[in-house]
Amino acid sequence: MSYDTATQTERRAEPPLHGPEAFEGMRRAGRLTAEALDLLVEHVKPGVSTQALDALVSDFARDNGAYSATLLYRGYPKSICTSINHVVCHGIPNDKPLREGDILNIDVTLILDGWYGDSSRMYFVGEVPRRAARLCDITHECLMRGIEAVKPGRTTNAIGAAIQSLAEQERCSVVRDFCGHGLGRVFHDAPTILHYVEPSYDVPLKPGMLFTIEPMINLGRPQVKVLSDGWTAVTRDRSLSAQFEHSVGVTESGVEIFTLSPKGYHKPPYATAG
Ligand code: MF3
Ligand code: CO
Ligand code: CO
Repeated sequence: MSYDTATQTERRAEPPLHGPEAFEGMRRAGRLTAEALDLLVEHVKPGVSTQALDALVSDFARDNGAYSATLLYRGYPKSICTSINHVVCHGIPNDKPLREGDILNIDVTLILDGWYGDSSRMYFVGEVPRRAARLCDITHECLMRGIEAVKPGRTTNAIGAAIQSLAEQERCSVVRDFCGHGLGRVFHDAPTILHYVEPSYDVPLKPGMLFTIEPMINLGRPQVKVLSDGWTAVTRDRSLSAQFEHSVGVTESGVEIFTLSPKGYHKPPYATAG
């Protein structure tokens, strides 16, 4: 979500603490969201349009008693976000064919029985340049290290520190204009999850908190701009950008990831059978 929206609303609120019933609901919504991302793997290839991918997810959601949180969210027109190459996030699916060498993020948020599953992964279109694959590797590792930092007794800045230190050590940059967010029976809640260290906002992590971690990492500078469609965010220097996102819950001992792939897909290239 955008940093501005987070500042206006969620960051003022005390993060809600959820019980076992919420964790059960989040497991089911998260699993379905991960299955939608798994389903897309075999469809992402040169010549396929992002609106065809959007239709696949919308049908999959309906067939499973769920629906997309993004369709008509603040006027957003589609069921998924597809962010290609220098698009940072919130790219809108369209009829343009994917091209060999593109990298894209697909972000899916499904609502199942009122619970929100929010997750995104990178995909390769055919063979991609080495620097693009490297950026995807680094970004996935940033997400996983951010998740490993989640534990009661720590604070949100432990997550930001884990992500920022790896990204900058690899001479990449962390996008500041978008952040992770609390979720549950709503799309965006407290706490706000920054992917860098911000001493003025540091929330203690407590069992029962539910939120996303969704770092956007650029090969070049961190600055972004939003195009005239009001959604598509791109890097100002047109450098490549990557993102991965999981929905997680804080447990007594650490963290539970709700959106892990049932097929064991973590980052591209995804090994498919046959
Ligand atoms: N799923 C995105 C997130 O991770 C939000 C997409 S909102 C949309 O926060 F309207 F752009 F789809
Ligand atoms: Co999110
Ligand atoms: Co998302």
